[in-house]
Amino acid sequence: MDFRRASAYHKPQHLLQEIAARFDPARVAISFSGAEDVVLIDMAQRAGLQFNIFSLDTGRLHPETYAYLERVREHYGVAIELLMPQPQAVADLVQEKGLFSFYKDGHGECCGVRKIEPLRRKLRTLDAWITGQRKDQSVTRTNILLEHEDRAFSTKEHPLLKFNPLSDWSSQDVWAYIRAQEVPYNELHDRGFVSIGCQPCTRAVGPHEHERSGRWWWEEATHKECGLHSQNVVRILS
Ligand code: ADX
Ligand code: SF4
Repeated sequence: MDFRRASAYHKPQHLLQEIAARFDPARVAISFSGAEDVVLIDMAQRAGLQFNIFSLDTGRLHPETYAYLERVREHYGVAIELLMPQPQAVADLVQEKGLFSFYKDGHGECCGVRKIEPLRRKLRTLDAWITGQRKDQSVTRTNILLEHEDRAFSTKEHPLLKFNPLSDWSSQDVWAYIRAQEVPYNELHDRGFVSIGCQPCTRAVGPHEHERSGRWWWEEATHKECGLHSQNVVRILS
């Protein structure tokens, strides 16, 4: 397939253009961690659109992921804002429960400190955020929309929109784009890693395993949302 001509290619790009036209550029951002998000960054660059980009630096990412963040920054000449957790909250958690509490207690508490609190702080400054979520990534994501109100992070005073421009794409679509456009990707993908999060909570998967089976592998598939996208879990459980 000539990927550049496929209609699937144009839909997310048009949505990015629409978002850029609708929002104050200072109040919308791409939430960047991996393969899907870099496709969005690449599309935005090709369309001449400037979006803020942030990434949650939990302090527990793989060295390869830090190297990758740098590569993307250099390749596109973009700033990537790293959002860090509150040092005291991390210190308190580690003091009380150690460095690997998630294996015993579940990942909620650690993700709450290292991801959700910094994300919430950032989202308070935005009117919309853009993620790389796809419907076929997980049983928790089959209903995600291209655009919706983010009920997990909106407040009455401050409604927040969430955009998922690649929601209808498959993993194959993402990788066809990456190959065709020579987009930089995390080198862990060449070692069997598919969905990549923090180092202690991510492992490589076999060719026939589901892509998210390497994330929080000790927990049920229906709980595999760290809170960034907790609205998805509410939807499937309710
Ligand atoms: S997670 O919630 O399970 O970690 P996943 O890795 O599938 O999410 O990624 C889905 C989307 O969430 C990504 O496309 C990206 O937009 C956002 N995301 C995930 N992890 C991060 C991170 N560390 N920093 C910024 N955005 C992230
Ligand atoms: Fe902590 Fe693991 Fe969540 Fe990272 S993914 S914040 S290490 S529980």
